[in-house]
Amino acid sequence: MPLTIAIDGPVGAGKSTVSDVVASRLGILHLDTGAMYRAVGLYMLENKVDILDEGRVSALCEAGKVNVDARYEDGVQHTLLNDRDVTPFIRTQEVGGAASAVSRYPAVRKMLVRRQQEMARQQPMLLDGRDIGTVVLPNATVKVYLTASSESRAMRRMLQLREKGDATPLEEIIREVNARDYQDMHRETDPLRQAEDAVLVDSSDLTFDETVNAILSLVEEKL
Ligand code: DC
Repeated sequence: MPLTIAIDGPVGAGKSTVSDVVASRLGILHLDTGAMYRAVGLYMLENKVDILDEGRVSALCEAGKVNVDARYEDGVQHTLLNDRDVTPFIRTQEVGGAASAVSRYPAVRKMLVRRQQEMARQQPMLLDGRDIGTVVLPNATVKVYLTASSESRAMRRMLQLREKGDATPLEEIIREVNARDYQDMHRETDPLRQAEDAVLVDSSDLTFDETVNAILSLVEEKL
């Protein structure tokens, strides 16, 4: 089994950016699994499918209408929806909300988890998401639960959105972060939780570099 690193945690804990840098320092690929749930959410929005209609969303996934994959160009992930590169379209609040809604459905999870496991079998990889240490890679070499206070997560989220020209007010972002945490932690199928053997890294009072180095040290210890 190739080297596998699982990084789970709530929205805005810095998982994606930290994971990118940790993976590139280790010379391995990073799979942002949230992007795959976002691609499913995007499909439903684009095709005017009611995201609350579990039967319809599941039937579409089971019928093979929603094919999600990831490809790499110069080590950078491109998320594909039915062979179309949807990377530029999945980072909005609306798509994030749709992703969180459809990620509750077992049929969606089954389809994406299978693909994530296949990819991690083929090469050394770092995967980040909500259920990597608990479901996707229960035998991962290193498991990290990366979190931060909800205030610092909302602040980070705001800065990310501002960079993309999105002016959503902070109060709305805090509400969205809290709602998404609640939904991700309380869904029936594979809720976000810390795996028993995951190491907790709280980045509230750590700089970006300190967070990256904390995770790299954990990997070094294991290897
Ligand atoms: O990390 P993100 O914000 O891009 O994820 C979008 C949504 O996808 C998130 O609200 C929960 C869901 N998700 C999940 O259920 N399991 C994962 N492994 C990754 C994301």
